[in-house]
Amino acid sequence: MSRVRTISIRGLTIKLLVDSKVYPPSFTTRLIAKNLPSLDCLDVLDLGTGSGILAIVASKLGACRIIATDISRRALDNASINLKMNNVENVELRYGSIYQSVENEKFDVIISNPPMTPSVRPFPRYTWGGADGRMMLDRVILDASKHLRKNGRLIIPTISLVGIDKTWRLLTSLGFKIKVLGYGWRPFGDKLIKIKEYIDRLEHADYFYDKFWRPCWRVILYEAILP
Ligand SMILES: C[S@@+](CC[C@H](N)C(=O)[O-])C[C@H]1O[C@@H](n2cnc3c(N)ncnc32)[C@H](O)[C@@H]1O
Repeated sequence: MSRVRTISIRGLTIKLLVDSKVYPPSFTTRLIAKNLPSLDCLDVLDLGTGSGILAIVASKLGACRIIATDISRRALDNASINLKMNNVENVELRYGSIYQSVENEKFDVIISNPPMTPSVRPFPRYTWGGADGRMMLDRVILDASKHLRKNGRLIIPTISLVGIDKTWRLLTSLGFKIKVLGYGWRPFGDKLIKIKEYIDRLEHADYFYDKFWRPCWRVILYEAILP
C-alpha cells in the first residue's frame, strides 16, 4: 500500500509518495535541503535524485531549470509523481549513471547526495557506496568541473565513514575553493552496527562514541566553488 509523507523544511511543506525501493529523505538529505544557498534563476543538476526531494526544494528556492538524474528507473518514476504532487514543472528527469545523460551540458550548481554506505556486499543500491563508500562520490567530484560554469558550485556531503579529509583533499587538488555549509552527526543504525567490524578496517573511516556509548558517524556538507 502506498503512503504519502509530508516533510516540512525551510518553511516549505513537501509531499512525497513513499516507495520502499526508493531512498527515503534522510538526515543528510535534510542537511543539504536546509543549507542550500540561494538558487535564484540558476541552472541546477541534481545527481542521484531518488524521491526527487532536493530537485523539488531547488525549484521552490528559485532555480530556473533543474535536471535530475538517477540510475534507478523506479526512483525516477517516484520522483515524477512527487514533482506533480508538489506542482513543480521546471525539473527534467533523466535516466543514466552520474553525468551520462548530461554529457555536454554545464550548470551553475550541482547538488548530489551519493550513496555512501561502505560494504563489500551490495546494500540496497540506493545506499551502497561500494567497498570504500566512495564509488559515486569520487566520480561526481572528479568530473564536476566539466559540467560547471565559471564560479559554478558543487554542493556535496561526505560522511566520516568514507573519509571527510579525503574529500577535502580531492576537492582542493582539483582547484576548488571550499566552504562548509553545514555538519551534523547520527548514531549508527542497525545496518551499520552489523558491518562495524568491516568499517573498523577501512583506512579513511572515522566515528566517535556519544554519551550513551553509541557509535556515531559525522557528516559535513561542502560547497566547492570552481574559480
Ligand atoms: C543516497 S540516495 C539520495 C537520494 C536523494 N537525492 C536524497 O538526498 O534523498 C542516492 C541516489 O543515487 C542513485 N544512484 C546510485 N548510483 C548512481 C549512479 N551511478 N548514477 C546516478 N544515480 C545513482 C540511487 O539510485 C539513489 O536514488
